[in-house]
Amino acid sequence: MRAAARAERPDQAVTPRAIGFEGVTIEFGTPGQAVFRAVEGADLSVAAGEFVAIVGPTGCGKSTLLNAAAGLLTPAAGQVRIFGAPLPGLNRDAGYLFQLEALMPWKTALENVAIGLEIAGTPKRAARDQARDWLRRVGLAPFADRYPHMLSGGQRKRVAMAQVLIRDPKIMLMDEPFGPLDAQTRLIMGDLLLRLWQENRKAVLFVTHDLEEAISLADRVVIMSAGPAARIIGDFPINLARPRDVSEIKLMPEFQALHRDIWHMLKSEVLKAYPDLTMGEIS
Ligand SMILES: Nc1ncnc2c1ncn2[C@@H]1O[C@H](COP(=O)(O)OP(=O)(O)OP(=O)(O)O)[C@@H](O)[C@H]1O
Ligand SMILES: [Mg+2]
Repeated sequence: MRAAARAERPDQAVTPRAIGFEGVTIEFGTPGQAVFRAVEGADLSVAAGEFVAIVGPTGCGKSTLLNAAAGLLTPAAGQVRIFGAPLPGLNRDAGYLFQLEALMPWKTALENVAIGLEIAGTPKRAARDQARDWLRRVGLAPFADRYPHMLSGGQRKRVAMAQVLIRDPKIMLMDEPFGPLDAQTRLIMGDLLLRLWQENRKAVLFVTHDLEEAISLADRVVIMSAGPAARIIGDFPINLARPRDVSEIKLMPEFQALHRDIWHMLKSEVLKAYPDLTMGEIS
């Protein structure tokens, strides 16, 4: 699977590859300080229409990889390809749901959802009509005129999801999009995301620290090692039938077997982030 061999071939031939990380190394440095290597030699492909989840210990480089796929960071070595072509700068095919909330507090839910289309040149009226429709699809039709501070955390996340999906990106980059939400709301958000994704499958690269969430949602779960110089150390296909019910799927024996196998690998990496704990304390 080395990058060089793959790069010779036209990517769209059989299964179009939406995102290809080829030996990607990412370093951070400031003048006068030692260079910090966050990610080393990452090889990872996401096919068109595929849902891939990345899990790994805190600080290992998950957001860094997403930033590279978005074109916000340039690799020190290796390259990122988008639909076969090297990424020259910002990834215009990607919608990015950030780890931190990015709604504009001075705009209503409707305005927040419509703004991306308006900036891209869609007439205001048409943009707002589409935004209204997207708010309906995420279950927020009655909340169109509320400002972000008048919405719950889960509602704000749904606005953010609509804000990205309305642009109809070919690739979705999602960084712990449900991170701060309570467990029940996460399940509801997961179900909503899968429902919307099933309608019009995008390539999704989804970062989460929650292994159950990763298995429930994804076609593949990829494990990163603890940093620095984090690597991709595992890649597990999730062959659970779709459509899936995120709140029920955990009860399936197949789910539990996958969870056991993947957690076995992930646990030792997670523990490296907590060197004072023994294995028996996290099982
Ligand atoms: N701009 C930067 N300058 C210097 N170091 C950085 C920068 N951005 C990230 N890092 C470092 O790179 C490593 C990876 O960070 P990253 O944010 O990708 O981790 P993460 O896996 O997303 O963590 P979390 O699960 O906590 O969100 C960390 O050690 C972080 O401190
Ligand atoms: Mg992160």
